[in-house]
Amino acid sequence: MQFMVRNQVNKELAKDLTYSNGQILSSMNSNAHSFASGVFIDNLTKNLGDPALFSGTAEVELQVIRTLGSLFDLPASGTGAILTGGSEANITALWAIRNKRRTNFRTNDSPEIVVPESVHISFDKAADLLGLKLIKIPTTPKYQIDLKLAEEAITKNTIALIGVAGTTAFGTIDPLSDLNTICLNHKLDMHIDAAFGGLVFPFLAHSKTKYSLSFDLKAVASITVDIHKMGHVPIPGGGLLWRNTSYPKAIQFTLPYLAGMPKQSTITGTRSGASTIAFQSLWNEIGYDGYQEIVISCVENTQFLAKELEKRGLKIPIEPSINILGVKTPIDFPLDVSELHKKLWKNGWTTSIVNGCLRFVLMPPTGKSKLEELLFLIDQLIDQ
Ligand SMILES: Cc1ncc(COP(=O)(O)O)c(C=O)c1O
Repeated sequence: MQFMVRNQVNKELAKDLTYSNGQILSSMNSNAHSFASGVFIDNLTKNLGDPALFSGTAEVELQVIRTLGSLFDLPASGTGAILTGGSEANITALWAIRNKRRTNFRTNDSPEIVVPESVHISFDKAADLLGLKLIKIPTTPKYQIDLKLAEEAITKNTIALIGVAGTTAFGTIDPLSDLNTICLNHKLDMHIDAAFGGLVFPFLAHSKTKYSLSFDLKAVASITVDIHKMGHVPIPGGGLLWRNTSYPKAIQFTLPYLAGMPKQSTITGTRSGASTIAFQSLWNEIGYDGYQEIVISCVENTQFLAKELEKRGLKIPIEPSINILGVKTPIDFPLDVSELHKKLWKNGWTTSIVNGCLRFVLMPPTGKSKLEELLFLIDQLIDQ
């Protein structure tokens, strides 16, 4: 009986696509690093939600916070948590900011959050769950928040401003230093969503001076950075860094039924520690240099694909700064974006359509030779 049920499951799983052939270009997750996968499998039952039983795993979580924190100048007073992903991290960040500032509000007013219209859908979810009003600000032609409109949108009810480092659509980064100035002038908290870009930008040349993705910006309360995207560990693994403990304390609950009555500042109670352990182990194994090597190769592959597609007459509306590329088809092109998207899927290559562009996310195991295969296919589709 058990055997039959297992077979039925396998029949369903046979429908899944696999990252292994390097043809999934629509996802911000991919195959995890093989070393990290091994560590993950060895630690399947570790529970960060029960630190009396798993005190070692809790220590490793602190190490991960320090490792990630070192990329963003997290102060010694800083803290954080490894969560299920970027959505949970963004929701938790806004939950903490809302609670910290709640006393400032008349009961009828919804607290307002000013966000670029490029933000991930998790901010809409957060607003719905937390009773917040999202004020979406148009972006400039470079797909960055319009600073003037952002400042004009601030009211007495505004509690925070969001900057994105690595937008879901094009990988762009908002002018964080200018956003910080606005936040300081209006006494607002700033949260940075670097779910994808947080493990990309810090490895690029002149990153610190160019992008200021750092807690050195004094208004920054928190940063989301996921380990299951460009951290190359298996899902689930989001990350949230907080400037200081006042933020998690604003959402803290005690669990009276667990040994040691732990305090939690997370949405979930039981929380897998496997990806946390996998990330710290991988970091110890390959270090900053190993991550940088992967990032540079992803970014170079993206630039290669952009140039080759341009040679074929496609348009790149926004120069890629990381490993996310959006392309458009001009009117006289033999296929429009939707047709090209469908034909690529039919031939086993997944892309997505975002903001009217065909979007490619380039992560391992997709390398240059795989992209040459893709370009060969595109040439055939153009000629058909
Ligand atoms: C910028 C950004 N933030 C947050 C998320 C949400 O991450 P998750 O899917 O891990 O919840 C994504 C997902 O693609 C993202 O691109």
